[in-house]
Amino acid sequence: MGSALEEMGTVISTFEGPTTVVFSFVVGSKNVRKGQFVQVEAEDGLVLGSVSEITRANRYFESAESVAEYERSSPMSTNFPTTDWEYIIANVRVHGMFKGGLMIRSTFPVAPGIKVHSADEELLKKFLHFEENGLFLGTLANHKLEAKVNLNKLLQKHLAILAMSGSGKSYLASVLIEELMERKAEKGRMGIVIIDSHGEYAGFRSSQYGKSVSIVDGKKIRIPLRKIAPALLFTWMPDASSQQKRELEKIMLELKKDGEQTHNSYGLSELVEKINASENLDKKSKPALLGWVGEIRSLKLVGKEEYPKIGELVKPGCASVVDLSGIDGEKKKQVIVSYVAKKLFSMRKKEKIAPFVLMLEEAHNYAPEKMTRKVALAKGAIETIAREGRKFGASLCLISQRPVHLSVTALSQCNTNIILRVTNPNDIKRIGESCEGIDDAMLSSITTLRVGEALLVGEATGSPVFIKVRQKKSSWIPKGQDLEEIARKFEEAIVKKKTEVEAFL
Ligand SMILES: Nc1ncnc2c1ncn2[C@@H]1O[C@H](COP(=O)(O)OP(=O)(O)OP(=O)(O)O)[C@@H](O)[C@H]1O
Ligand SMILES: [Mg+2]
Repeated sequence: MGSALEEMGTVISTFEGPTTVVFSFVVGSKNVRKGQFVQVEAEDGLVLGSVSEITRANRYFESAESVAEYERSSPMSTNFPTTDWEYIIANVRVHGMFKGGLMIRSTFPVAPGIKVHSADEELLKKFLHFEENGLFLGTLANHKLEAKVNLNKLLQKHLAILAMSGSGKSYLASVLIEELMERKAEKGRMGIVIIDSHGEYAGFRSSQYGKSVSIVDGKKIRIPLRKIAPALLFTWMPDASSQQKRELEKIMLELKKDGEQTHNSYGLSELVEKINASENLDKKSKPALLGWVGEIRSLKLVGKEEYPKIGELVKPGCASVVDLSGIDGEKKKQVIVSYVAKKLFSMRKKEKIAPFVLMLEEAHNYAPEKMTRKVALAKGAIETIAREGRKFGASLCLISQRPVHLSVTALSQCNTNIILRVTNPNDIKRIGESCEGIDDAMLSSITTLRVGEALLVGEATGSPVFIKVRQKKSSWIPKGQDLEEIARKFEEAIVKKKTEVEAFL
């Protein structure tokens, strides 16, 4: 195995090591990079580690005084063989040792003088728990190894995709959706439901995956009145008196009873009829209640029948995009997300629908940590899936650019995290607290990642690793992302209008 692998250098004896957890080697290859995995043949087995830091040194340049002195006349390199004296030292963190096909804890240091090689990719694959049939998310940084993660490990205990705006969260989510749609039935497929806050995923419909994708226009979503608790209606009636609320509650109960007896569904019109017919409401209360119900009607959310049928959103290997981009009210979006999440989970518990993953863009809006003034109507439903979903095949993929505002309960249940570039110190801190196995060096690397580069950490990988997210296979024009384009089109439209008016005159 070792002969085909590139030689990286020679283990040296230093003050710190070699120990069972760290060693250093003097670099003999141009290809050594921070984060790279290396292996060393030791007495007890094959030791696997990764380069944690690299130092470059040169005796010629050690004394600031003499460097300054020499460089005043001419560069030192013209008079001395300075490049011959340069050497590079790489520090390695030991991950473990392979012995008899198993990864065990390293119990004896590697020997100084021994050669270090680039890690064998089969070995690495085993160590990282990647598998041939896994979901292909990208390639390992510094290696050709494909990061193909096990579906169970990635999703069963929930996934969080965290990063600042513009670093590639939605792109990665699209890659994941492609992988889920491409799975063969015999491997086990899930249904995918995407809560699409900005209408970014609708393009899937016109891609090669179109047949497996359905789009739900958020403006057409209707929740049947019978599924709406009076308490929720009250949130739209801030000025209602407790007596008025009690009456409305009674009327809703009556409607429910009637509905159950006659098997007829009912909506706001039926509610209005009941209010009109009520004899318990005084002169002021009746028009007030009717006024509020009118306002609720204008939301265009509450109806007689459910649309879309929530159960139909989940089909194995297919994706349903719930496009909320056309909806203005934050509260209305929350009511929708709450309803969809609750219903999906309850149907899944009864095994009426396939296992599913609910992908939630802007997750911090729906499951916020703090509820200052803002309502958080969907938080309970999301936290319930986060806590109990894994037992029933109900998974969450929380996507957020503000991890610090995301519910700690929900985030801590996400056993796999994929983190792209993050620079905000508060967000970094939260990520450090919520992700097990992430160290300070990794946290600081997160701030320097480029678009599409990510740290994969948690259940889905044997060890935290940096990956480059693979290219998306589907392509479509992203909606309104290019500011120049938007500005140009806006002006063009004005000019066009003007010429049209002039032509008319
Ligand atoms: N892996 C990648 N390869 C190539 N291009 C990418 C990759 N990831 C992201 N991009 C590009 O970078 C831009 C931003 O990506 P994306 O929209 O996914 O960011 P985001 O994190 O979802 O941002 P926001 O928080 O604003 O939603 C897009 O134009 C996208 O095409
Ligand atoms: Mg996005």
